[in-house]
Amino acid sequence: MTKEFFDIPQFTSAAGIVRLPGSKSISNRVLLLAALADGETEIRELLASDDTERMLEALKTLGVGVSTLGGENWLIKGCAGIFPVKQADLFLGNAGTAFRPLTAALALAGGDFVLKGVARMHERPIGDLVDGLRQLGADITYLGNDGFPPLHLKPASIRHGGVVRVRGDVSSQFLTGLLMALPLTGEAATVEVLGELISKPYIQITLAIMARFGVVVQRDGWQRFTVAAGSRYFSPGTIYVEGDASSASYFLAAGAIGGGPVRVEGVGRDSIQGDVRFAEALAQMGAEIEMGPNWMSARAPVGGLVAVDLDCNHIPDAAMTLATAALFAKGTTTLRNIASWRVKETDRIAAMATELRKLGAVVEEGEDFIKVTPACLRPASIDTYDDHRMAMCFSLAAFGTPLRINDPKCVAKTFPDYFERFASVTRAAPVIAIDGPSASGKGTVAARVAAALGFAYLDSGALYRLTALAAQRACVEWSDETAVAAIAAALDVEFSETYISLDGIPVGDAIRTEEISAAASKVAALPAVREALLFRQRAFNTVPGLVGDGRDMGSVVFPQAALKVFLTASAEVRAERRHKQLIGKGLSANLPDLLLDLQQRDARDSQRSVAPLRQEADAKLLDTTSLTIEEAVNQVLMWSREALQ
Ligand code: DC
Repeated sequence: MTKEFFDIPQFTSAAGIVRLPGSKSISNRVLLLAALADGETEIRELLASDDTERMLEALKTLGVGVSTLGGENWLIKGCAGIFPVKQADLFLGNAGTAFRPLTAALALAGGDFVLKGVARMHERPIGDLVDGLRQLGADITYLGNDGFPPLHLKPASIRHGGVVRVRGDVSSQFLTGLLMALPLTGEAATVEVLGELISKPYIQITLAIMARFGVVVQRDGWQRFTVAAGSRYFSPGTIYVEGDASSASYFLAAGAIGGGPVRVEGVGRDSIQGDVRFAEALAQMGAEIEMGPNWMSARAPVGGLVAVDLDCNHIPDAAMTLATAALFAKGTTTLRNIASWRVKETDRIAAMATELRKLGAVVEEGEDFIKVTPACLRPASIDTYDDHRMAMCFSLAAFGTPLRINDPKCVAKTFPDYFERFASVTRAAPVIAIDGPSASGKGTVAARVAAALGFAYLDSGALYRLTALAAQRACVEWSDETAVAAIAAALDVEFSETYISLDGIPVGDAIRTEEISAAASKVAALPAVREALLFRQRAFNTVPGLVGDGRDMGSVVFPQAALKVFLTASAEVRAERRHKQLIGKGLSANLPDLLLDLQQRDARDSQRSVAPLRQEADAKLLDTTSLTIEEAVNQVLMWSREALQ
């Protein structure tokens, strides 16, 4: 299976407006309470994502009437606390917001249920919730390791009312699950929290949504929560799901780093989600924040962002965004009280530290904190650990360097079209792609255009030439795809203004010989070699811009290029130019042989199955047969200036 990845060029700036998808936390709570309520509930703007899919599927399996009203709108026929289906196997993926509350609701509603998830879900603790439910008489067995899913719930006689004690220092979802399920017992019940309750804002979301469904919980500090006797859920009729405040964090941070303003719509001052307070944290870093009832915007401060030292217990999810925003803040940012990161989709403290280090940042991690000191960022291939938030918050690093995000589809957990929306408010460093056959003069033209625009220059052919040379030096056959690809992946090369070096030593004309030219064209036909060199080329896509020359700049490497030029000349003229060049260097050369060689290389480069040389439909043709270099450069510069406006 080919590895899935998403390559992001370096961003120059960010500005724009984004309508946020619905909140995951609110969506799954509303779905469950609508299912448990009396009456039909119309849910508007529900989040469409993996986690909400799991909840919808589970409710259908339990016999709840679930029907789509088109778009993100759903109609749920409540079952008044009694699920029609009494025996079922439920698969809940990696959705903690489905797993925990459903465990509680099903344990108290009664029946024979097996609840499972993906492997990571089975590593996420649930023991505190099970302990709480057992105090009420629930019969729950661990099918794997003690304290972790999968679970088997069996019919049991549930004690009505009384006091339940639950630990609150591992995940607030245990308390949320218990609170949402308690009205099913019908009697007055009190939950006492043991230990310091973490992530309190998520409990506030729970209480606010329960209130919308008619159950007002009496709260005594953060220690005691009482559900009155006779509490029952009633449908509020129609309910709107707020935009996701955690998802807002990426866009606000983009505005704070990339100029802005970036405005998010769907959450704002009136939100019930604690993660809106991410905006305060960003403001502490210096960002200019504005807020309305259901929108927020951020722009960069004049002097740039500054580091902060913050207790992040109240914004555990959005705090991940602060860790990557810290790459652009002056000083060392310390995020404290984030122990819950360790039991999320992955061990987020370890994952964050590992990936930030790949980019060059200096990171210190502890049991419940992380410290990030920025550095000059370098391109890196970022692993995402099947964690949507890892993928989303690392996209911000692209303000400092091009980067690769592996397994980008994990964002589907909460935000399936995240990268498209992110692209809509960010501007990537532009690319001018110049493709054409050998000796067409594209190298000279590209280098001069780059110099005139102040852009970086990528001679992609040199990478294939260097690969061929390195393979020769390692005594590897040019036809050995796996071995040559490994050499390409590990190439230690450096491009400077005046020379190219391999393994720290300038290669000079060693990559320009006829032998290496022919070998480069051979290794370039091997798909694994092209794949190995792809990110290395994209890593040149930095600020302020890039001019790249080769065969597939506009078709494969930089399909988003602002300008694509197909630069060619007749084979005879190209052979003559090459002949003159060699003679000028004092080397012997034979024109008919050179012509034949060129024609063979043209054929190989344009007839190969991967990334063949051809003029793209959106490329401009520049035939330099009868043009001087200056004329060709001027033409490309004119097109470039038009394209970059
Ligand atoms: O542009 P050049 O002559 O230096 O390229 C050397 C070889 O590398 C050429 O025969 C084709 C191959 N190449 C390629 O396949 N794709 C590129 N983008 C650049 C070069």
